[in-house]
Amino acid sequence: MMPGPDGAHSWHPMAYNPKTGLVYIPAQEIAKSFTPVKDFKSSEIGWNLGVDVAGTPGAKKGYLLAWDPVAQKEVWRSEHVGPWNGGIVATAGNLVIQGDATGHLNAYRADTGEKLWSIDVQSPIMAAPVSYEVGGEQYIAVLSGFGSAFSLQAGKVAAQSGNIRNISRVLAFKIGGTATLPAAPPTQQLALNPPPATADAATVSAGEQLFGRYCSACHGENAVGGGVVPDLRASGFLGNDFFYEIVLNGAMKGAGMAPFKAVLEQKDAAAIRAYLVKRANEDKGSGPALEAASSDAAATQLLTKYNCQACHTLDKKLVGPDYKEVAAKYAGDAAAPGKLAQKIKNGGSGVWGQIPMPPNSVPDADLKALVEWILAQK
Ligand code: HEC
Ligand code: HEC
Repeated sequence: MMPGPDGAHSWHPMAYNPKTGLVYIPAQEIAKSFTPVKDFKSSEIGWNLGVDVAGTPGAKKGYLLAWDPVAQKEVWRSEHVGPWNGGIVATAGNLVIQGDATGHLNAYRADTGEKLWSIDVQSPIMAAPVSYEVGGEQYIAVLSGFGSAFSLQAGKVAAQSGNIRNISRVLAFKIGGTATLPAAPPTQQLALNPPPATADAATVSAGEQLFGRYCSACHGENAVGGGVVPDLRASGFLGNDFFYEIVLNGAMKGAGMAPFKAVLEQKDAAAIRAYLVKRANEDKGSGPALEAASSDAAATQLLTKYNCQACHTLDKKLVGPDYKEVAAKYAGDAAAPGKLAQKIKNGGSGVWGQIPMPPNSVPDADLKALVEWILAQK
């Protein structure tokens, strides 16, 4: 079906210029298959529409459309790389301004569509710009940042424009402005290190159905993440039974990952895991670039490699304590490095609460570097 539920355009504001008589629309073309699910039964949580939502077929386009509502015809269009671009503002100075999903803010002539100006702002823009005046000078301000339902659910299509970096900023521009952005944080390849795919085809297929119904709305169609919540193909939990604690019992509830015990049994979660392992093996080495979570690149690489980031952050309690809190607790404790290295290796509970840390298989050299880094946080 075209357009699909994402619309021919979605919530991103359109604009009207009374001088040109045109409306400017952040248009998109995203088809969607609607296949009825046989013998559908609704359930307490999950996707309850009775349609199979796995996959987005057909054209995926995005463009800025200038439309004459009186003549009912297109006047000009400017193509974007992919769908889900920003809202639009039209100014009295014959300008149309729109941010896009590649991370650029663009200005066009309102009457002809000629592109006049474009600037790289490092992160996609979904919001609409505003125009305002202070002391006789005109400013254009816009919010940058990536997120929303589309980037959660659309999987691969969400990454079509090649930039899934979420940097939230208010940016204001004026003629003759001289401010510059700090250097963009480094990008990093998504590391897919799944265990071997050993499940039979029937289990994988059951897992695919369950994933589509209960998980894809946040973790992305075909198990491809849009960069907002973890891409499950790269999850360190694919090879770890703690997967069930997260999926069924809510071990990561505090981070927004609800328990699915009400609708899934252990064998269902196992089928989803088998499907994810298969998808990860299929896509190994071809994931989209993901942004590093911290500026401390070497430590971030290790923390990401061993999946510590799933449960810990620098300064906010997640499943486990935050690193700053750990450093504060053990400040001045000469035995701490050895103790913590053992704890990370073997797992355990009771120091910070009842939730256990599972064992982490980390080679000693990396373990030492991680503990040193953690204890140095202030
Ligand atoms: C409503 C949104 C939502 C749905 C639906 C959802 N998740 Fe999650 N999931 C999250 C969030 C948010 C996180 C944790 C984000 C973070 O680490 O800060 C997460 C984390 C996870 C993790 C840990 C990944 C890692 O490596 O850190 C696993 C595993 C997981 N989810 C599996 C599933 C499975 C399986 C389903 C379907 C049964 C599912 N999720 C459905 C939002 C969701
Ligand atoms: C599945 C979630 C999870 C993962 C993955 C995880 N941790 Fe933990 N971590 C925890 C929990 C929960 C605790 C608190 C345990 C306790 O109360 O004794 C903890 C505690 C810790 C502590 C403090 C230990 C203490 O006894 O004070 C350190 C240091 C730590 N983790 C580092 C790491 C590192 C490094 C990694 C990656 C190699 C990692 N964790 C992976 C959940 C996790």
